[in-house]
Amino acid sequence: MKKQKSFIFKCSGCGHEEARWLGRCPECGEWNTLIETAVNAAAGRAGGQRFGAAGRGLPQSLPLSAVNPQEGGRLSSGIGELDRVLGGGIMKRSAVLVGGEPGIGKSTLLLQAAAAAETRGRILYISGEESAGQVRLRADRLGLAGSSVEKIEIVCTGSLEEIETILNAVKPVLIMVDSAQTLFSADAGSVPGTVNQMKFCAFELIAWVKEHDAALFLVAHVTKEGLIAGPKALEHMVDTVLYFEQNDKAAGLSGTQECRFLRAAKNRFGSVDEIGIFTMGERGLQTVEDTSLLFLVRREGELPAGVATAAVLEGTRTILVEIQALTIPAKGAVSRVFSDKIDSARVSRVAAALEKHLGLRLSDQDLYVNVAGGIRITEVGVELALAGALYSARTGLALPAGMVIAGELSLTGEIRPVRRLAARIKTARSLGFTGFLGPAPEAVESAAVAASAPELKIAGDIKAAVKLIYGKGR
Ligand code: TYD
Ligand code: MG
Repeated sequence: MKKQKSFIFKCSGCGHEEARWLGRCPECGEWNTLIETAVNAAAGRAGGQRFGAAGRGLPQSLPLSAVNPQEGGRLSSGIGELDRVLGGGIMKRSAVLVGGEPGIGKSTLLLQAAAAAETRGRILYISGEESAGQVRLRADRLGLAGSSVEKIEIVCTGSLEEIETILNAVKPVLIMVDSAQTLFSADAGSVPGTVNQMKFCAFELIAWVKEHDAALFLVAHVTKEGLIAGPKALEHMVDTVLYFEQNDKAAGLSGTQECRFLRAAKNRFGSVDEIGIFTMGERGLQTVEDTSLLFLVRREGELPAGVATAAVLEGTRTILVEIQALTIPAKGAVSRVFSDKIDSARVSRVAAALEKHLGLRLSDQDLYVNVAGGIRITEVGVELALAGALYSARTGLALPAGMVIAGELSLTGEIRPVRRLAARIKTARSLGFTGFLGPAPEAVESAAVAASAPELKIAGDIKAAVKLIYGKGR
């Protein structure tokens, strides 16, 4: 018997439906996202509704106060650093996008999480890129064996229709899709492999997990050029976006040579400040919990000029990082800033404040700034240490070894309080640093800091800071 079919146009971005084709979705404003979609008359409406909605009545609202706040709940991925970035575990009914360049370790992370996840439910690993044999080999290489892999089901396909059938049969609680770029559906019209295909399929899978109290991880390959066309298009559909990135293979670090950072770019269920830190070894990704020495350079005796140690916050962690600066006379007519790890606008601003308030000529110099260990620092508390490194680079005067710096530098040259000063001082002390230069503590912390941190030198402005660093007379 032939099924009765009719067609509607559905936005692959937001799911909005129109009876006729439009160039632009009236709901989300995206262009060229309306896709002709078959409506199966028997299943009611198309798209995100087709999995479970058939047979249910009209949608109903309910009082907000009647909603169970525990709805969903979390399950641990079994990987501490992943849980940390997710905001305390995998949220049920959520969709997580894991982006990163090829080879960074996305498949490895998902496989390890599938094996370690603390759930009794079934886990479905959907691979559109590797064969089941390859995934099995990797699992063996990772030393994942016995009961941890028994709960993992694997299927190698990119076809949404096949995946739907399997989902409804297996009813997994955790679904890994590797990768979003391999998904396709006959219902999404146009050519397989397009952004619209990917968005359509992702939309359907997200709808499935919301309805079935499961959680979804979607891998997305990101290349430096391809950022916009591909996974960016999925970002607004998912609850959490994680990006996996790698530092430079900086030599001379006292900690591990090479590490990978997992950062949340968006998180509906937690902070985006947390980072997860991993190293890739023989047995896959290892979590790095003690990061205290990872971003410091092992040195004996005096520091070279241009180096300052900063105490910065990364989410709930305090880390010490070495800031390195180099100034050389500008090669061109305009001086330039070369800084990947600290925002160049921030470097320019700090340099301008130094020039204005200390009379230190930097505007005719090219400024190079780096952070040891290759970690990107976005926290404002790095500014005073950055000022110290630039000052030291320009004047050739090394900072005292053993001094850690934190503080925000305003354009007026004043040093502003930073959050959690006491924690920063504590970390510095625990690593054997004997001096700490910073702002006056915030009111809530002042008593605690005064009582416990005799080594704190308080600087009210950048002039005072330079005096405190180099002693009298400058
Ligand atoms: P992979 O997870 O395949 O990356 P992605 O899915 O992001 O493309 O990881 C690829 C790299 O990790 C590859 O270069 C090999 C390396 N690797 C190890 O060093 N050790 C291991 O145990 C595994 C599984 C991978
Ligand atoms: Mg992969």
